[in-house]
Amino acid sequence: MRYFIGNWKMFGVPKSINILNKINSFHSKDKNRRKYRVIFTPPYTLLETYAKYFRNKRISIGSQNCYQKDLYSSNTAAVSPFMIRAVGAKYTLIGHSDNRSEGDTNDMLKDKVKFALKNNLKVVFCIGENKKDKKNNRTFSVLKNQITKVLEKKFNRNNIIVAYEPVWSIGTGKIPTKKELEKTTMHIKKVLKHLFKTKSPAVLYGGSVDGSNVEMFKEIRDIDGFLIGGASKSSKKFIDIIKNYYR
Ligand code: 13P
Repeated sequence: MRYFIGNWKMFGVPKSINILNKINSFHSKDKNRRKYRVIFTPPYTLLETYAKYFRNKRISIGSQNCYQKDLYSSNTAAVSPFMIRAVGAKYTLIGHSDNRSEGDTNDMLKDKVKFALKNNLKVVFCIGENKKDKKNNRTFSVLKNQITKVLEKKFNRNNIIVAYEPVWSIGTGKIPTKKELEKTTMHIKKVLKHLFKTKSPAVLYGGSVDGSNVEMFKEIRDIDGFLIGGASKSSKKFIDIIKNYYR
């Protein structure tokens, strides 16, 4: 199974549902439709409306983050996995570099993953080295650390997807070379297989993915799909990614 996940970040109003509607119609008619899943993570403001609207359609809806405690708490502006699941969303991103840079620690991320899984959300756990890590040849150790400090063997690996997003590639138009990606994704899968003692969860790539570079990624065996930022705000650009992937 392949995954194409669109992360809208701080984008979208109710009528932006038109973008997803076009993608949904494409997906329903696509001859390759059984080979992949499409998931979108709109902002919290749109979560309930979109999750209800797409309940019996092809696109699944998820949140971009969640709070690390169950049910309710007295934390202003926080939204718990329980509340996210209650409005019909099925997924949540956890550990996006935007949130890590705002203070999400490994301990917080571990709690988030735990509570999200407990509340029946599937977790898209984001990891990635920054520019300095890459320059200092620390990519492998940073990624291993990000995985092993947060994910536990007892977590259900079937409900976890790992998204590898090099921070220096997000929104910059810069992407790793094919060789770098082959090595890095193989390393990530090795760490995950070792941790879970069986098969690795799916591993996605994210960072400046678009219709023109997706063909290079499809040649890399250990990439099971994509987490797409900028190009997910246009139905045409998002559909082009899927079309070119299966060309
Ligand atoms: P871009 O596709 O805009 O580089 O964003 C990637 C990302 O951060 C998705 O979560």
